[in-house]
Amino acid sequence: MKKVMTIGGSNSKASINRKLAEYTGRLMHDVELNHIDLNDFDLPLFSIDIENESGFPKDLIRLNNEVNSSDGFVISLAEHNGAYSAAFKNAFDWLSRMESKVWRNKPMLLLSTSPGARGGQSVMEIALSRFPRNGGNIIGHTTFPSFNENFIEGEIVNPELKAKIEGLVSDLSESI
Ligand SMILES: Cc1cc2nc3c(=O)[nH]c(=O)nc-3n(C[C@H](O)[C@H](O)[C@H](O)COP(=O)(O)O)c2cc1C
Repeated sequence: MKKVMTIGGSNSKASINRKLAEYTGRLMHDVELNHIDLNDFDLPLFSIDIENESGFPKDLIRLNNEVNSSDGFVISLAEHNGAYSAAFKNAFDWLSRMESKVWRNKPMLLLSTSPGARGGQSVMEIALSRFPRNGGNIIGHTTFPSFNENFIEGEIVNPELKAKIEGLVSDLSESI
Protein backbone atom coordinates (compact mmCIF):
# COMPACT_ATOMS: atom_id res chain seq x y z
CA MET A 1 0.00 0.00 0.00
CA LYS A 2 1.25 3.52 -0.81
CA LYS A 3 2.39 5.62 2.12
CA VAL A 4 1.27 9.22 2.53
CA MET A 5 2.92 11.45 5.08
CA THR A 6 0.95 14.27 6.68
CA ILE A 7 2.83 17.13 8.33
CA GLY A 8 1.66 20.20 10.19
CA GLY A 9 4.34 22.85 9.84
CA SER A 10 4.25 23.79 13.49
CA ASN A 11 5.36 22.61 16.92
CA SER A 12 2.11 23.63 18.60
CA LYS A 13 0.58 20.68 20.45
CA ALA A 14 -2.84 21.86 19.28
CA SER A 15 -1.66 22.82 15.79
CA ILE A 16 -4.50 23.71 13.45
CA ASN A 17 -2.22 22.91 10.53
CA ARG A 18 -1.58 19.41 11.84
CA LYS A 19 -5.35 18.99 12.24
CA LEU A 20 -5.95 20.12 8.66
CA ALA A 21 -3.17 17.97 7.19
CA GLU A 22 -4.35 14.87 9.08
CA TYR A 23 -8.00 15.49 8.16
CA THR A 24 -7.02 15.88 4.49
CA GLY A 25 -4.95 12.71 4.58
CA ARG A 26 -7.88 10.78 6.05
CA LEU A 27 -9.97 11.67 2.99
CA MET A 28 -7.70 9.42 0.93
CA HIS A 29 -8.61 5.78 0.38
CA ASP A 30 -6.36 2.75 0.35
CA VAL A 31 -3.23 4.50 1.55
CA GLU A 32 -1.20 4.05 4.70
CA LEU A 33 -1.10 7.37 6.54
CA ASN A 34 1.94 8.44 8.48
CA HIS A 35 0.99 11.44 10.65
CA ILE A 36 4.14 13.34 11.52
CA ASP A 37 4.19 15.60 14.57
CA LEU A 38 7.33 17.76 14.59
CA ASN A 39 7.27 17.57 18.40
CA ASP A 40 8.28 13.93 18.13
CA PHE A 41 11.63 14.88 16.59
CA ASP A 42 14.25 16.39 18.82
CA LEU A 43 16.18 18.67 16.48
CA PRO A 44 18.52 21.34 17.83
CA LEU A 45 18.39 24.75 16.21
CA PHE A 46 20.32 24.25 12.99
CA SER A 47 23.93 25.24 13.30
CA ILE A 48 26.72 24.45 10.88
CA ASP A 49 28.93 24.05 13.94
CA ILE A 50 26.68 21.34 15.42
CA GLU A 51 26.68 19.61 12.05
CA ASN A 52 30.47 19.81 11.75
CA GLU A 53 31.11 18.75 15.34
CA SER A 54 28.38 16.14 15.89
CA GLY A 55 27.05 15.20 12.45
CA PHE A 56 23.36 14.69 11.81
CA PRO A 57 21.14 14.34 14.90
CA LYS A 58 19.64 10.87 15.22
CA ASP A 59 16.09 12.24 15.10
CA LEU A 60 16.95 13.98 11.82
CA ILE A 61 18.03 10.66 10.36
CA ARG A 62 14.74 9.17 11.60
CA LEU A 63 12.72 12.02 10.04
CA ASN A 64 14.67 11.78 6.79
CA ASN A 65 13.94 8.03 6.66
CA GLU A 66 10.24 8.76 7.12
CA VAL A 67 10.33 11.26 4.24
CA ASN A 68 12.27 8.82 2.11
CA SER A 69 9.80 6.00 2.62
CA SER A 70 6.78 8.19 1.73
CA ASP A 71 5.08 8.05 -1.65
CA GLY A 72 3.40 11.44 -1.21
CA PHE A 73 2.86 14.28 1.20
CA VAL A 74 0.09 16.42 2.63
CA ILE A 75 1.76 19.43 4.21
CA SER A 76 -0.04 22.27 5.93
CA LEU A 77 2.13 25.22 6.83
CA ALA A 78 1.67 27.49 9.81
CA GLU A 79 2.44 31.15 9.17
CA HIS A 80 4.54 33.07 11.67
CA ASN A 81 5.16 36.67 10.73
CA GLY A 82 4.52 35.92 7.10
CA ALA A 83 6.87 32.95 6.86
CA TYR A 84 7.48 29.36 7.98
CA SER A 85 7.27 28.65 11.70
CA ALA A 86 10.74 28.35 13.20
CA ALA A 87 10.08 24.67 13.98
CA PHE A 88 9.25 23.84 10.36
CA LYS A 89 12.09 25.93 8.94
CA ASN A 90 14.51 24.22 11.29
CA ALA A 91 13.38 20.74 10.25
CA PHE A 92 13.46 21.79 6.58
CA ASP A 93 16.97 23.22 6.91
CA TRP A 94 18.26 20.07 8.62
CA LEU A 95 16.57 17.80 6.05
CA SER A 96 18.08 19.83 3.20
CA ARG A 97 21.56 19.10 4.59
CA MET A 98 20.95 15.36 4.22
CA GLU A 99 19.34 15.56 0.78
CA SER A 100 18.87 18.84 -1.10
CA LYS A 101 15.86 17.36 -2.92
CA VAL A 102 14.08 17.14 0.41
CA TRP A 103 10.73 16.16 -1.16
CA ARG A 104 12.17 13.66 -3.69
CA ASN A 105 9.83 14.79 -6.50
CA LYS A 106 7.01 12.84 -4.89
CA PRO A 107 3.49 14.27 -5.23
CA MET A 108 2.54 16.82 -2.62
CA LEU A 109 -0.56 18.69 -1.57
CA LEU A 110 0.41 21.98 -0.04
CA LEU A 111 -1.96 23.67 2.40
CA SER A 112 -1.75 26.51 4.87
CA THR A 113 -4.19 27.70 7.45
CA SER A 114 -4.48 30.33 10.13
CA PRO A 115 -7.23 31.90 12.20
CA GLY A 116 -7.02 34.93 9.90
CA ALA A 117 -8.75 35.65 6.62
CA ARG A 118 -5.60 35.17 4.52
CA GLY A 119 -5.11 31.62 5.74
CA GLY A 120 -1.33 31.77 5.53
CA GLN A 121 -1.15 33.24 2.02
CA SER A 122 2.34 34.63 2.61
CA VAL A 123 3.92 31.37 3.75
CA MET A 124 2.10 29.62 0.91
CA GLU A 125 3.77 31.96 -1.60
CA ILE A 126 7.15 31.31 -0.05
CA ALA A 127 6.72 27.54 -0.21
CA LEU A 128 5.28 27.57 -3.73
CA SER A 129 8.35 29.35 -5.00
CA ARG A 130 10.87 27.43 -2.88
CA PHE A 131 9.74 23.80 -2.58
CA PRO A 132 10.20 22.97 -6.30
CA ARG A 133 13.90 23.76 -5.86
CA ASN A 134 13.98 21.14 -3.12
CA GLY A 135 12.30 18.42 -5.15
CA GLY A 136 8.77 19.60 -4.36
CA ASN A 137 6.27 18.18 -6.84
CA ILE A 138 3.28 20.29 -5.84
CA ILE A 139 0.27 18.87 -7.60
CA GLY A 140 -2.22 21.12 -5.82
CA HIS A 141 -2.39 23.78 -3.17
CA THR A 142 -4.80 25.98 -1.28
CA THR A 143 -4.90 28.32 1.64
CA PHE A 144 -7.61 27.60 4.20
CA PRO A 145 -8.79 30.90 5.71
CA SER A 146 -10.38 31.55 9.11
CA PHE A 147 -9.75 28.04 10.43
CA ASN A 148 -11.86 28.36 13.55
CA GLU A 149 -14.96 29.34 11.60
CA ASN A 150 -14.48 26.86 8.77
CA PHE A 151 -13.32 23.75 10.66
CA ILE A 152 -15.51 22.80 13.59
CA GLU A 153 -15.41 19.62 15.66
CA GLY A 154 -13.12 17.85 13.23
CA GLU A 155 -15.06 18.72 10.08
CA ILE A 156 -14.92 21.36 7.34
CA VAL A 157 -18.21 23.23 7.62
CA ASN A 158 -17.69 25.54 4.64
CA PRO A 159 -18.97 23.66 1.55
CA GLU A 160 -16.70 25.50 -0.90
CA LEU A 161 -13.59 24.76 1.11
CA LYS A 162 -14.70 21.16 1.60
CA ALA A 163 -15.13 20.72 -2.16
CA LYS A 164 -11.77 22.35 -2.81
CA ILE A 165 -9.97 20.03 -0.40
CA GLU A 166 -11.79 16.97 -1.77
CA GLY A 167 -10.77 17.93 -5.31
CA LEU A 168 -7.15 18.27 -4.25
CA VAL A 169 -7.29 14.89 -2.51
CA SER A 170 -8.57 13.27 -5.65
CA ASP A 171 -5.74 14.90 -7.67
CA LEU A 172 -3.20 13.60 -5.14
CA SER A 173 -4.71 10.12 -5.19
CA GLU A 174 -4.37 10.01 -8.97
CA SER A 175 -0.74 11.15 -8.84
CA ILE A 176 0.49 8.64 -6.28
C1 LIG B 1 4.90 34.43 16.45
C2 LIG B 1 3.61 34.31 15.70
C3 LIG B 1 3.45 34.95 14.50
C4 LIG B 1 2.26 34.82 13.78
N1 LIG B 1 2.16 35.43 12.56
C5 LIG B 1 1.08 35.19 11.80
C6 LIG B 1 1.01 35.66 10.46
O1 LIG B 1 1.94 36.26 9.95
N2 LIG B 1 -0.10 35.40 9.73
C7 LIG B 1 -1.14 34.68 10.26
O2 LIG B 1 -2.13 34.46 9.56
N3 LIG B 1 -1.12 34.21 11.53
C8 LIG B 1 -0.04 34.44 12.30
N4 LIG B 1 0.03 33.94 13.59
C9 LIG B 1 -1.12 33.20 14.11
C10 LIG B 1 -1.01 31.76 13.66
O3 LIG B 1 -1.59 31.64 12.38
C11 LIG B 1 -1.75 30.86 14.66
O4 LIG B 1 -1.01 30.85 15.87
C12 LIG B 1 -1.94 29.45 14.14
O5 LIG B 1 -2.62 28.70 15.14
C13 LIG B 1 -0.62 28.82 13.78
O6 LIG B 1 -0.81 27.54 13.26
P1 LIG B 1 -0.60 26.23 14.17
O7 LIG B 1 -1.79 26.16 15.12
O8 LIG B 1 -0.62 25.12 13.18
O9 LIG B 1 0.67 26.39 14.90
C14 LIG B 1 1.20 34.06 14.32
C15 LIG B 1 1.37 33.40 15.54
C16 LIG B 1 2.56 33.50 16.23
C17 LIG B 1 2.73 32.76 17.54
